[in-house]
Amino acid sequence: MESLVIQGSTKQERYESLLPQIASVVDGEADLIANMANVAAMLHETFDFWWTGFYRVEGEELVLGPFQGPMACTRIRKGRGVCGTAWAKAETQVVPDVDKFPGHIACSSASRSEIVVPVFREGMVIAVLDIDSAELNTFDQTDRLHLEQIVQLLKA
Ligand code: SME
Repeated sequence: MESLVIQGSTKQERYESLLPQIASVVDGEADLIANMANVAAMLHETFDFWWTGFYRVEGEELVLGPFQGPMACTRIRKGRGVCGTAWAKAETQVVPDVDKFPGHIACSSASRSEIVVPVFREGMVIAVLDIDSAELNTFDQTDRLHLEQIVQLLKA
């Protein structure tokens, strides 16, 4: 595949157009970091998010991984912020307004809403996918459903 071709006007249609293209890119590559890099790039390009990327679990911390967007915090402790909470609870966090999330870590003051999806390997969280929007209320169950499918494709 040479470049991304996204069809559809609704969010659902755009995810449905994106999913097989991610599957095809990830299918031919076993390296997790390379796949995270392409998934971040493809999501970022499709939806024009503010920040799209991964943090990887390293011991008791999350460490910044492949991402698209402005520079970000490099290390986040377990249970801290939205990312650390998604890791500790092993559950997707949908945050309509980051100012109302206790302990939210503001890597960028432009970020207004956020979704964080855990990436599992053998039942353990080994990374999280973090997406930030510069607008409130960007993420809903449509994002959650499709992003959970997308991280499964990573075959972490
Ligand atoms: N806001 C996140 C930190 C990561 S940056 O947004 C890229 C959090 O509270 O975990």
